Amino acid sequence: MPLALPNFRRRRVLYVVLSSAVLTLFWLFYSRSDATPDEHTDSHRREWPVRVRPHAKPPPSPPTTTGLPSSQSPSLSVYDPPPINAEFSANSTGNLNRRANATLLMLTRNVDMWDALTSVRALEDRFNRRHHYPWVFLNDEEFSEEFMRRARALLPESAVSFGLIPKEHWNQPDWIDVARQNAAMKTMQSRNVKYGGNLAYHNMCRFNSGFFFRHPLLDEYKWYWRVEPRVKFHCDIFDDPFVYLEENDKVYGYTMSVHEIPATIPTLWKTVQDFMENYPQYMLPKEDNLMRFISNDNGRTYNRCHFWSNFEIASLDFWRSEAYTTFFEYLDKTGGFYYERWGDAPVHTLALALFLPRHKIHLFDEIGYQHDDWSHCPRDESVWRRGRCLCDARDGFDYTSDSCRRRWDALI
Ligand SMILES: *[C@@H]1O[C@H](CO)[C@@H](O)[C@H](O)[C@H]1NC(C)=O
Ligand SMILES: *[C@@H]1O[C@H](CO)[C@@H](O)[C@H](O)[C@H]1NC(C)=O
Repeated sequence: MPLALPNFRRRRVLYVVLSSAVLTLFWLFYSRSDATPDEHTDSHRREWPVRVRPHAKPPPSPPTTTGLPSSQSPSLSVYDPPPINAEFSANSTGNLNRRANATLLMLTRNVDMWDALTSVRALEDRFNRRHHYPWVFLNDEEFSEEFMRRARALLPESAVSFGLIPKEHWNQPDWIDVARQNAAMKTMQSRNVKYGGNLAYHNMCRFNSGFFFRHPLLDEYKWYWRVEPRVKFHCDIFDDPFVYLEENDKVYGYTMSVHEIPATIPTLWKTVQDFMENYPQYMLPKEDNLMRFISNDNGRTYNRCHFWSNFEIASLDFWRSEAYTTFFEYLDKTGGFYYERWGDAPVHTLALALFLPRHKIHLFDEIGYQHDDWSHCPRDESVWRRGRCLCDARDGFDYTSDSCRRRWDALI
């Protein structure tokens, strides 16, 4: 139809349409920018009158602190809750300017990526977002690109490194009799010895006993916190456990202690007794060491108590020491990591108990922690409140019959 109009009429119609469009746009633009600020502020004032206080002190300019003087809290971010009360601040070793020579350490696999990240997220939220300790991830195969990308994304403010475990630290040594090992593993499997038939598990126990501290990525640290995939941290951790251990001249910190499964360690104690006879120079006198924690009969038998090593905060120098490396090699040469299923937890514990005085070992009671179904939750109400814990001590593992907590308490 419009095509049928004469030329001049077509132009006039176009003019009218265009100019009214421009006017409409103008009107829309100005009426908006005029009305918006007042209208919005007004409605805010009506809803939340107390929030607008013209004479109140202006908020701290950069939104990166919680109102504490920024010189005192360089690593606090906007997400940090302010201290609850004075007692809490006063007791916090959390002098945030002081950082130990320490790393958070996780041995994991690519297939466990989400479980690994769950633990990372949990420890960051409850502790490390205030400290930014570096993370070291170790794997017996190359980390996948996705694992590294996601881990780095969760840890934008921490140094993160990914290490490959050398084959000679992971696979069984060539002097292991593979036929004997296979037969032993088969027997353990048929007897339902937990992980007895799982070769990777044997490798892992041996690695965690004798090799993790030799990985080059750990050379630059003095302390480590071992974190496993899929663990929980129930409470805020305000005091820096590394700094605590260092300042109090301690070597090793743990949360739960457990009885080992007897079928995994038939000859372990006999081997350790042989070692004690051959290397008396490394032993502390029974009165000073933790023999009473690991034996109910003054060293005749091992009561199977051990610190549960999936959680450890400890000095790398202890494992690097001549005493421990000699101990590990002595045990390793018997093949017990393959012909039986020696765990790194009893191996660590026996060395700690025999070489160190009791006061070098610390129970981190305030660190609520969960591995699988086993949970440690602070029983003391004030500790629970201070840590804003999310756990029920009545469901805790500590005072069950599998736990060695009562024995530890008795030593104090
Ligand atoms: C806080 O520290 C003071 C002094 O070191 C101590 O007396 C007090 O018991 C501590 N309070 C708590 C809840 O740990
Ligand atoms: C941390 O400890 C390692 C191992 O003892 C040491 O080589 C390194 O120099 C230390 N780093 C710092 C900053 O003290």
